Amino acid sequence: MSVKILDGKAVAAAMRAEFAATVATQGVVPKLVAVLVGDNDASHTYVRAKRKACAESGFASDLIQLPDKIGTQDLLAVVARLNADPATHGILVQLPLPKQVDESAIINTVTPLKDVDCFHPENIGLVAAGHPRYYPCTPRGVVELVRRHDLSWAGANVVVVGRSNIVGKPLALMLMQKPTPANPAGCDATVTVAHTKTRDLAGVCRGAEILIAAAGQPHCITADMVKPGAIVVDVGTTVVNGKLTGDVHPDVRNVAAWISPVPGGVGPMTIAMLLANTLTAAISLRSDR
Ligand code: GUN
Repeated sequence: MSVKILDGKAVAAAMRAEFAATVATQGVVPKLVAVLVGDNDASHTYVRAKRKACAESGFASDLIQLPDKIGTQDLLAVVARLNADPATHGILVQLPLPKQVDESAIINTVTPLKDVDCFHPENIGLVAAGHPRYYPCTPRGVVELVRRHDLSWAGANVVVVGRSNIVGKPLALMLMQKPTPANPAGCDATVTVAHTKTRDLAGVCRGAEILIAAAGQPHCITADMVKPGAIVVDVGTTVVNGKLTGDVHPDVRNVAAWISPVPGGVGPMTIAMLLANTLTAAISLRSDR
């Protein structure tokens, strides 16, 4: 049987159309401001894609480009200005930042109300407690990508490979939680988190009915690590010889039932969730005034 594709490109396009309809009916124009420091090619590409998605959903967006040599204090001042700007609903500081900048100080200074990446400790704390203000974009994108192909997380044995603050850790929290009206991304899954120190990584992965590859190591998940018929979600986005490369080896297509491609899988879903958060921010900031 040939592998089926978790088509993030198509699902994200449908979601952008839903956001555009909400913008039209709610009479609010959400505005995302991206802050881009230096000239990292990948960061420029990601920010361009995020702004294009904004335009497709009728959102406003702005780009603040800053020099590679900027210091923490100057960047903090830019963030403080955006925090105070009533026309800005979502603030996105593209990571990674240059090494002289204190990344945690920047993340901790974005007001949690406009933290549409959901990186602020207050917002991650709310996710952990099961009553989120926002969801982190890539984890929510993974949850929705699977659901929108009529596949269920409930009760599934899920292995998450990777424990980053942006993907693995918050995704594991969301997957294990009970879904409630306040926490719709809860999944009722049975979750194992694997990482570089996991003994018998291949054996642990082979126990997964749903395997999430979020290690950031190109092609580290090989066919022998995958249970036949498993659902495999590839979160990897490493540029190798100029080509975006996932964490999942191409041979896994011969074993899995479902797989998300790179590009065209989780990436577009991450951006769709960023828009979802920006829309939520615009609606809640409007009603706060
Ligand atoms: N760098 C890589 N992924 C992300 C992301 O989701 N948000 C931001 N701000 N920077 C990133």
